[in-house]
Amino acid sequence: MKNEKDNEDKKDETEPDASQHGITRRGFLTTLGAGAVTLAVSDKLHATPAADAEMIARGEMTKVVLNINNRSYRLLVEPRWSLLYVLREQLGLTGTKVGCERGECGSCTVLIDNAPRYACMTLAVEAEGTKITTLEGLMKGEELGPVQQAFVEHDAFQCGYCTPGQIMAVEGLLRTNHDPSTEEIRYGMSGNLCRCGAYKHIIKAAKKAAELKDQRKYIVPSSTPYS
Ligand code: FES
Ligand code: FES
Repeated sequence: MKNEKDNEDKKDETEPDASQHGITRRGFLTTLGAGAVTLAVSDKLHATPAADAEMIARGEMTKVVLNINNRSYRLLVEPRWSLLYVLREQLGLTGTKVGCERGECGSCTVLIDNAPRYACMTLAVEAEGTKITTLEGLMKGEELGPVQQAFVEHDAFQCGYCTPGQIMAVEGLLRTNHDPSTEEIRYGMSGNLCRCGAYKHIIKAAKKAAELKDQRKYIVPSSTPYS
């Protein structure tokens, strides 16, 4: 399983090199968002035949309903599975990245009831009854969300590996603070590491995202994603 993750992540990291074949980094970011949305609409409903029922009875699997990006997913999961594992490996929502898997880097940041959370430190079963938002949920059709757009405009990434987590952290910040100061942005982003050191541009992008959200009237009341 680890090797599969490694391979997939390696694939993600090597995609930007496709710029040599006519795909820019910016185009890659757009493609990443759009592709993931396509995956998100292929709902995964897991039947529970007799074998599943036996596993449930033995406590090896449990039924869970997860609300992700305003869609309900009925799943059978092992109680030990992290939300990160379920998003990526069970649902194909690979916009959420795997980094340290121990709550240190922020690559796996998603929103749970509008608050940034580490998906690697959250059990899937814990997330039942909440509203989960992933990077894919920030798109409006094929249009980038304001935070994604601001990151592109300010070139707020280099290798791009931390970028989905950074975007989700900014999104979470702006859902509670519509006009954060630089210090508030620094504090809000303090759980997200960037090994490339793109922090200066990330802060500019966060400020720009606040403006864009205001212009597009995308300020989100309660827990309703863009729609
Ligand atoms: S992968 Fe979750 S915090 Fe690093
Ligand atoms: S852009 Fe490379 S780790 Fe942040």
